[in-house]
Amino acid sequence: MTTFRGVTRVLSVVGARPNFMKLAPVARALAARGVEHIVVHTGQHYDPDMSDAFFRDLCLPLPDHNLDVGSASHARQTAEIMVRFEPVCSAAQPDIVLVYGDVNSTVAAALVAVKLGVPVGHVEAGLRSGDRSMPEEINRIVTDHVADTLFAPSRDAVENLRAEGIPSERVHFVGNVMIDSLVAALPAARALDAPARHGLDKQGYTVVTLHRPANVDDRETLRELLETLVIMSKGGPVLFAVHPRTKTRIEELGLDSAGPPQPKLLDPIPYLEMLSLVAEAELVITDSGGLQEETTWLGVPCVTVRPNTERPITCTMGTNRLTRARRDGILQAARDARAQRPGAAPTIEYWDGLAADRIVAALCEGARFA
Ligand code: UD1
Repeated sequence: MTTFRGVTRVLSVVGARPNFMKLAPVARALAARGVEHIVVHTGQHYDPDMSDAFFRDLCLPLPDHNLDVGSASHARQTAEIMVRFEPVCSAAQPDIVLVYGDVNSTVAAALVAVKLGVPVGHVEAGLRSGDRSMPEEINRIVTDHVADTLFAPSRDAVENLRAEGIPSERVHFVGNVMIDSLVAALPAARALDAPARHGLDKQGYTVVTLHRPANVDDRETLRELLETLVIMSKGGPVLFAVHPRTKTRIEELGLDSAGPPQPKLLDPIPYLEMLSLVAEAELVITDSGGLQEETTWLGVPCVTVRPNTERPITCTMGTNRLTRARRDGILQAARDARAQRPGAAPTIEYWDGLAADRIVAALCEGARFA
């Protein structure tokens, strides 16, 4: 019989904005148990407002290593992370490498660790959109199939892993670490009162984020999306937090403003300010995974500009509705979403602020969350 040996040295790899909210609660839970925790930032996202601002808002210590990979094609970015991470991982000799979500940094680090014989834990395992044209879907599939321990945020994710033949003893249903960060940060976010700072009435404005290649890389699609936002602005303020990728595309499009009212284009918004704005929004329009979850937990109506989602629970239990990147569909979905604002936010199993504690209990004590 083998006896369980809890981990004493964990190495986490993060690289892109949505990783940081998933790392923060795990880092806190590891620190609370006195586990040594090495954090490697790949540098996939490098703008201060895409990275440093999030470390500050989430009270994360600075990373121990920064691989400074920056932007490149998918192959080059993934390969560069692998080349630079390999010696760091070899030298650190962690008991486990934790990777988060579905970005290029996730799959690159998982491949390096598994080839070095270091166990890999995947936080946010099992999500599937079924859409293999999304780079994130490929990252999810590969990461889940090389990981030794898979931490699933929802029962549908557990079911996806089972359907792909991943042995159930590798899978823990722990809940959603993104919601851990939200629960921890919400009091500070509300205290910021970002709507007032932006001169907005509570529940009287729309928050927008769009950055998926399918929405912003095609000129005509992006043009139609921007025209839709201009129409929406006539009904009330629209705040568009523009991802660097989207900013470049808008600049390439050479849109000139056709006079007010216009959506207000903002730089990427820091985590607490964004949470404060989203919590009081009338509506959110997005193609982000994290915002689908956050609006669900908060009970804020959300329109997701995508034909599919890897987070179906946000549609079945939450306030989320999907629509394609077409003007009429978005306007109709926005009307429907506003009309059906729920009285109370739903309660979703293990979206309770304690997912990271379960992850760390599994790592340190061998606890099972089947
Ligand atoms: C990545 C993730 C996506 C996640 C998103 C959140 C992958 C495949 N995609 O997409 O899952 O939802 O992050 O933001 O990993 N750029 C900057 N400054 C930055 C970061 C990016 O200017 O700090 C620009 C670069 O021009 C770059 C482009 O944005 O080419 C795309 O960046 P990249 O890291 O490839 O992916 P994202 O689109 O940000």
